[in-house]
Amino acid sequence: GVVADPGRLLIARGSQMALYLAARATLAPGAAVAVEEPGYPLAWAAFRAAGVEPRGVPVDAGGLSVVALEAALDADPRIGAVCVTPHHQYPTTVTMGAARRLQLLDLAQRRGLVVIEDDYDHDYRFEGRPVLPLAARAPEDLALIYVGSLSKLLSPGIRLGYALAPEPLLSRMAEARAAIDRQGDAPLEAALAEMIRDGDLGRHARKARRIYRARRDLLAGALAERLGERVVFDLPAGGLALWMRSAQGRADLWAMRAGQAGLALLPGARFMLGAPAPQAFRLGYAALDAAQIVRAVEILAQSCPQG
Ligand SMILES: Cc1ncc(COP(=O)(O)O)c(C=O)c1O
Repeated sequence: GVVADPGRLLIARGSQMALYLAARATLAPGAAVAVEEPGYPLAWAAFRAAGVEPRGVPVDAGGLSVVALEAALDADPRIGAVCVTPHHQYPTTVTMGAARRLQLLDLAQRRGLVVIEDDYDHDYRFEGRPVLPLAARAPEDLALIYVGSLSKLLSPGIRLGYALAPEPLLSRMAEARAAIDRQGDAPLEAALAEMIRDGDLGRHARKARRIYRARRDLLAGALAERLGERVVFDLPAGGLALWMRSAQGRADLWAMRAGQAGLALLPGARFMLGAPAPQAFRLGYAALDAAQIVRAVEILAQSCPQG
């Protein structure tokens, strides 16, 4: 994991608050932040609440396109930061490769860009070696704000997230936080600290990884069996969701029909700022047990629009 220097750490009520504070601390109202498109709309909402406009940059099989990011910077000098989910890009689940990471850090340094790394599902890597965050490789003098969360590891109802940032960004974030949330939640933080010290959190993570990996495999197997060539997907190397493309398009119709049959689907259009929507869905599998996964795939098969 990330070794945190406690002097550089700020605890927030979930990464939602940390993303808002990061935008407040780094950018003045009227500035812009480059975000992944498709991406995480709640992060855009946090940035907008800080008066900062999200600008979409396309994502490909290697994560955020650094070439497109550079073009966006040339086109819009108001972009002062970039927000990325390199571990498993939200919503497409792709992992940003080592070369792309170095390109991103190099571009950020050359152009004086603040990097906001949303590492929301860091604990869930099923295959291969753990992937270190950008924060572990960033040069000392790069302004990088690392945002983590307990929402995926424990529960989204436990409002504890954290940010690591250099000074003076961290102090500015702390000041902005004090204006809206004076005390934090000391009893909850103390309970979590005890779970970490006792090893309960580590045990929970190992068990959750095992269960979620089995759920991922079950979902992937059922999709291949029941939907065959009607869908295209890569097995996600970790995380809690699978990005499923529709071979015949019509994702919105599919989502509507599945919804009528009782399955809520997140179609590609939900993750877009304005660019054409990918004909795809983010299928979250972690919260479903085996019977629910089988049932969900059955609904997908029955509601699939014919080409
Ligand atoms: C991309 C992304 N970032 C952050 C979070 C976590 O948000 P929070 O820590 O506020 O619950 C999520 C959870 O859904 C997410 O998908």
